[in-house]
Amino acid sequence: MSTPCLITPLPLFIYNGERMDEQQKTKPAFERDGAGNLDQTLRPQSWEEYVGQPKIKENLRILLTAARERGHAAEHILLYGPPGLGKTTLAHLISKTLGTNMRTTSGPAIERVGDLAAILTNLSPGDVLFIDEIHRLSKSIEEVLYPAMESGVLDIIIGKGPSARTVQLDLPPFTLVAATTRISLLSSPLRSRFSGGTFRLEFYADEEIGQILTRSAELLGVSIDSSDLTRIAKRCRATPRTANYLLKRCRDLAQLEHTSLSGDILEKTFDLLEVDTLGLTRPDILLLEALIHKFHGGPVGLNTLSAATGEEMATIEDVIEPYLIRQGLVERTPRGRVATTRAHEHIS
Ligand SMILES: Nc1ncnc2c1ncn2[C@@H]1O[C@H](COP(=O)(O)OP(=O)(O)OP(=O)(O)O)[C@@H](O)[C@H]1O
Ligand SMILES: [Mg+2]
Repeated sequence: MSTPCLITPLPLFIYNGERMDEQQKTKPAFERDGAGNLDQTLRPQSWEEYVGQPKIKENLRILLTAARERGHAAEHILLYGPPGLGKTTLAHLISKTLGTNMRTTSGPAIERVGDLAAILTNLSPGDVLFIDEIHRLSKSIEEVLYPAMESGVLDIIIGKGPSARTVQLDLPPFTLVAATTRISLLSSPLRSRFSGGTFRLEFYADEEIGQILTRSAELLGVSIDSSDLTRIAKRCRATPRTANYLLKRCRDLAQLEHTSLSGDILEKTFDLLEVDTLGLTRPDILLLEALIHKFHGGPVGLNTLSAATGEEMATIEDVIEPYLIRQGLVERTPRGRVATTRAHEHIS
């Protein structure tokens, strides 16, 4: 008799360890320590606490409320954008709004088709399945995901060789919420199956970061005046995770120096962390310096830039470049990356 070969017990959702390793590679060095902890403590627990991204919030409100009222699972949702802008937080809020459980896993954690099959068959009706870093799913796993997303069925192969047969299992209705920092790596069949919508998270305005920091300061029990909030907001790369990180480091220094948060403490912290007036850190500066000094401002290809700076291409594209482009320091042209006049002025 043939034995099922694909469905194996899964170390379900042993996620954090693996995910952090991957995530750490693409995060600026100064953010790596303790980012997990920090995210947990300060993560917004409600839509009111989730600042900014008004378009996304409104679209999701309609989608989720309508699905909930109909008593159906919501359609699948894809969230993308640079690290630390609030994708994971949104996934939590989505499942909270739907009033269902959220199962969490990540692209690199799903190594075999059987892993995905075990996850899907263990869902309860209406559950949210959150797959982080979905661009790292292998092709064979993506192919199992297509019918699961589209028709709610799972095609599995039982047995091996000539006795192998395909069995189709009906899955409980579920909502896939997927997040990625690299949407360009998703195949178009996969992208097109997010029928609930694909949402791009935007960088945050200074006032929005100010609101986030005010709440974080309260949670951390530190008092900070509004001019100092603005100072942090200006240096956080328009990214909530970085803003919270800077606030915590300022608080640490104030504590060690037995004083309260002040402009002086902020400046010292920025110096220690090597965060400059535009919020640029060592990797950003190294990239700009390479572009300007070694390649006369460009245009230069990503490959060459990666070799010259020692940063992985993915890190340059996902983490470093989006903010430099937003700041008008770097332009992407068909012939490569070019430093702008502003970059020349900033670096000289
Ligand atoms: N809109 C927001 N309002 C308030 N705080 C936010 C918001 N977005 C993010 N944060 C804060 O930033 C932290 C990081 O956000 P989150 O983990 O959701 O980012 P992410 O996009 O999933 O990042 P990554 O790509 O690295 O996984 C959160 O724990 C929270 O403290
Ligand atoms: Mg995340």
